[in-house]
Amino acid sequence: MKIIVKKDYESLSNTAANIIKEEIEKKENFLLGLATGSTPIGTYKELIRFHKEEGLDFSKVVTFNLDEYLNIPYTNSNSYHYFMEENLFKHINVPKDNIHIPDGNAEDVGKFCREYDKKIEDYGGMDLQILGIGENGHIAFNEPDDELYLGTHIAGLTESTIKANSRFFDSIDEVPKKAITMGIGSIMKSKKILLLANGEKKAPMIAELLKQEKVSTKIPASFLLLHPDVVVILDEAAAKDY
Ligand code: GLP
Repeated sequence: MKIIVKKDYESLSNTAANIIKEEIEKKENFLLGLATGSTPIGTYKELIRFHKEEGLDFSKVVTFNLDEYLNIPYTNSNSYHYFMEENLFKHINVPKDNIHIPDGNAEDVGKFCREYDKKIEDYGGMDLQILGIGENGHIAFNEPDDELYLGTHIAGLTESTIKANSRFFDSIDEVPKKAITMGIGSIMKSKKILLLANGEKKAPMIAELLKQEKVSTKIPASFLLLHPDVVVILDEAAAKDY
């Protein structure tokens, strides 16, 4: 695990976007794994800037998102479909057909999950996966539990995640209790992983994660310690306890 600490959120975002840009430019039909949440918004802003000012080309990039709430209309501003359109897709030249986001409204969600991982494999596997981290150590919607799923699946959200994500909704009751998420195995198959964390709220979990000598399903992010190419980018606030 390579750990980079930057002064603030802006420089964290700039560093992450520069790594992504460098990787995208290396390869045609680049498979980019995208995350939602507040953490990657700055990185997406930088990628949009690189597209507009430096001509960073997304026409051959294929994207796969980590997760989506179950049974949420995509016109709802809290859906991850809406989030991605607003924060990235509508500002860059990625072809619509190259965009993949779990379909929380699929008729047969189980079938959709099985096909999602296969589709990634058929494209040749994920080249780079962007990740945020929950305060309880979850990645995507792989929550602390006795066992973790390998592939894309339906996941129940923990109380702490429902509470943390309620800041985006009008009331906590509106937060969906279930989601489709890529599994730990799907994430670990990515050739490169960028884990981003900013702000004091993430500091205890980052400290906990980086001192781990074991992997634990109680800290889903700890499985990343087994991956050969993870870059962790933190701001000083998230790195303060480590
Ligand atoms: C959500 C998402 C995760 C994200 C996490 C942290 O639950 N499913 O992919 O990493 O929250 O969110 P934030 O970046 O807003 O702290």
